Amino acid sequence: MSKLGEPGLFTLSSEEPEDVPTTPPDTTLTSTDTLLTGATASAYARTVHRVVDDVAARFAAVDQPWSGASRVELTALVDAVDLDSPGIGTGGALRETADLYATHAVWFHDPAYAAHLNCPVAIPAVGAEAMLAAINTSVDTYDQSTVATLMERRLIAWTTERIGLTAGDGVFTSGGTQSNLHALLAARERALTGPDGVRLTGAARHGLQGRLRILATAASHFSVAKSAMILGLADDAVTSVATDAAGRMDPAALADALAATERAGAVAMAVVATAGTTDRGTVDPLARVAELCDATDTWLHVDAAYGGGLLVSPTRRRLLAGIERARSVTVDFHKTFFQPVSASAVLFRDAADLARTAWHADYLNPVEDAAEVNQVDRSLQTTRRFDALKMWTTLRAIGPDGIGAMVDAVCDLAAAVHADLADDAELRLVCGTDLSTVIFRYQPDGVTDAEADALVPAVRRVLFDSGRASVAKTVIDGRPCLKLTLLNPDVTLDDVRRVLTLVRDAAHGLLAGRELADLAAPPCRDVHPHLARTTTGDPR
Ligand SMILES: Cc1ncc(COP(=O)(O)O)c(C=O)c1O
Repeated sequence: MSKLGEPGLFTLSSEEPEDVPTTPPDTTLTSTDTLLTGATASAYARTVHRVVDDVAARFAAVDQPWSGASRVELTALVDAVDLDSPGIGTGGALRETADLYATHAVWFHDPAYAAHLNCPVAIPAVGAEAMLAAINTSVDTYDQSTVATLMERRLIAWTTERIGLTAGDGVFTSGGTQSNLHALLAARERALTGPDGVRLTGAARHGLQGRLRILATAASHFSVAKSAMILGLADDAVTSVATDAAGRMDPAALADALAATERAGAVAMAVVATAGTTDRGTVDPLARVAELCDATDTWLHVDAAYGGGLLVSPTRRRLLAGIERARSVTVDFHKTFFQPVSASAVLFRDAADLARTAWHADYLNPVEDAAEVNQVDRSLQTTRRFDALKMWTTLRAIGPDGIGAMVDAVCDLAAAVHADLADDAELRLVCGTDLSTVIFRYQPDGVTDAEADALVPAVRRVLFDSGRASVAKTVIDGRPCLKLTLLNPDVTLDDVRRVLTLVRDAAHGLLAGRELADLAAPPCRDVHPHLARTTTGDPR
């Protein structure tokens, strides 16, 4: 029997020995013991069951977002692992890894985690993740993926139909950043194609490339500006379009910006509208933006990384009206579709736009095989995870309405929190949302703007260092603000109130004490008894 097959190497159950070897169980351990094959299948099953049991026990026991260990403590734990020492066996390695990683990970399912765009994940998706990780399909060529390619393509078709891009195409990506980059690459290639349909080259290409502009609001995701840099556009390629008071793109300002771009001898390569801005969670007026893009024959990219979940919302789908007029769309399944990282897609209205970025290699997808269904023709990646399987399984498990109900739940929760804070004497709402963020400042009467500014990073830091709650900070209209991103449909208003109580406690402690002066020197978690760290690491 393989060494990996021996019970007890990664044992958590009480029936089995707890001992985990700290020295190699057998220094002659070979690939046949370690790699997942037919011969090691039962060892694989035992190993993964134990990991799953351990993680499940941790999920059940978690009572705060993370351990609150300081960076100094964590660095020491990480550095203590000798990566050059002989192997300690699969069981020992997984045990050690769980003690390090799982013990100090940030748990997005905890009700007091409300910082970034991270969601609790759907169990069917996690099951599918186990399947795809073990089988290890690469969705690049058909001969490496067969049915997986067909399933991904079916899911892409499902997504384009939901958007209304009925003849569209697309591909799964690693995230919204890659989806935005891919869309803007295709837009750049379209802009750099001559009237004869031939890709410009040489001086003509370089001359025009320097004059390409992307029009987006300041609230668009930073990956838009980063894409401009990666795509070799000019330093000033991203033109900021003004917004209304709620932070949504102002169509009149867009019309002006399009006209000004042309007057300046530049070319609007793309307009990027955001369906769910990262901070305010607002949706740009897509239909009016689309009208302007149509009138000027400008590529419209809709970044629905956050708002994509509205596609299945039973009550809020109307917020996306006009998205069907986009030329490309980003949808992040690992945000509002409750999928494990990573799962995103970029969708195109016209399959020919996707072909603009195709590349052919003799060994993989030669031109003469172009009729074959090779997803590598559509992707910026070559080897690529079969992330679509997770979304597929989730859809089959709970259906689109089941996902939509969860999207509605987080949006309803955000609305309830907004209503709750409307007259709050200490926490002042800064703006509204179309989705599920809450942006506010701690500023009761008597606290100056400058003090409220300073409290934002301090409160966030105190909460994070305590491990008890995690909230985010951002800047709105030039002023620092605290932010909750609510993406857990099981969280209640009372759960959020508890987080907000910790925010108030932290602010009271900071204002009462000297700690505001000491922000650079962590930890500052002891400013209030409610925020003292109680765990030393292991949340079990
Ligand atoms: C609007 C928007 N677009 C794009 C992204 C980038 O997505 P990812 O982190 O999946 O790359 C984000 C991330 O928060 C986002 O909010």
